Amino acid sequence: METLTKTSARTAKDTFPINGTDYIEFYVGNAKQAAMYYQAAFGYELIAYRGPETGVKDTVSYVVQQGKIRLVLTSAYEPDHEILKHVQLHGDGVKVLALWVDDARDAYNKAVERGAKSAFEPYVIKDDQGEVVLAGIHTYGETIHTLVERKNYNGVFMPGFKAKTSLRKVEGVGLKYVDHCVGNVELGDMNKWVKFYQDVLGFKLLITFDDKDISTKYTALMSKVVSNGNGYIKFPINEPAQGLKKSQIEEYLDFYKTAGVQHIAVETDDIIDTVGKLRANGVDFLYVPENYYDDLLDRVGEIDESIEDLKSQNILVDRDDEGYLLQIFTKPVQDRPTLFYEIIQRKGARSFGKGNFKALFEAIEREQELRGTL
Ligand code: FE2
Repeated sequence: METLTKTSARTAKDTFPINGTDYIEFYVGNAKQAAMYYQAAFGYELIAYRGPETGVKDTVSYVVQQGKIRLVLTSAYEPDHEILKHVQLHGDGVKVLALWVDDARDAYNKAVERGAKSAFEPYVIKDDQGEVVLAGIHTYGETIHTLVERKNYNGVFMPGFKAKTSLRKVEGVGLKYVDHCVGNVELGDMNKWVKFYQDVLGFKLLITFDDKDISTKYTALMSKVVSNGNGYIKFPINEPAQGLKKSQIEEYLDFYKTAGVQHIAVETDDIIDTVGKLRANGVDFLYVPENYYDDLLDRVGEIDESIEDLKSQNILVDRDDEGYLLQIFTKPVQDRPTLFYEIIQRKGARSFGKGNFKALFEAIEREQELRGTL
């Protein structure tokens, strides 16, 4: 059964203060084209660049931003570079979930003392705009958390990057900030990673979903959501469970070849407008059949939006005892059925749309069937 932990994380002592998500870095096969995709399809603004023209000879990175969301698209030139090896094995995917901290050295030392595996030791980078301190720890799969201290930096992103703006006119779609980032881990590993976030980063267990909450004929998964002290960082961790056919989590693991980031949920305060713009830009969403809307108001009670508007954009609604939320999921954003996005608008609800799991997972299963991977 789903259980929502009621104790407010905000009042507990925060043993690992994190200000928020600093950036999310993807290793990709072609950073130039990935950057254009995020500008043209998702309405991100190009803000910074690092590559041969700025003195870095082996890698290239484009930084795009919308609201508080910052994505770094990184690739490399030589086939034996670790970035291209990562791309060869996993396809395009998330390498870094960067966490914004006040003191990166202290955060790193605490994390390693508490059992985190070091990815790299703290180091300082400087330019004429100041300095940034970076340190890294491993999490599930090949994903890492970079700890970013930027209180003494005034530049556009980070030392080494040059400001760069879009040649195209970018229309934002209203994305504001990262709501949550979901990790898929191997069968039996969910509790290990929940414990890692609790023990190492001082996160609290927010919600547990067991396989009875996921009620399609074929799909089975379990999920626990952990959240940091101020509640700004939420990491649901999924693992596959025994089902009649291959679950979406197993499909992800088969294609990504290890545990990794499954979806990134981004917040908007006008989901109908945001999704309309994304569709006009060519973003492809999961389809939920029209009969989903037949008894919607009986299930979720009164809502501000018109059912016709929600239906026309295929947006889903769920309610918990604090309010409701609106959400929709894109199809995977690369050829492998791995990473996708969730667009979410919260109207009081702190939960994750459990009432929509069945409709959503059936939608994913229809896609799996088309791919021949169910
Ligand atoms: Fe989600």
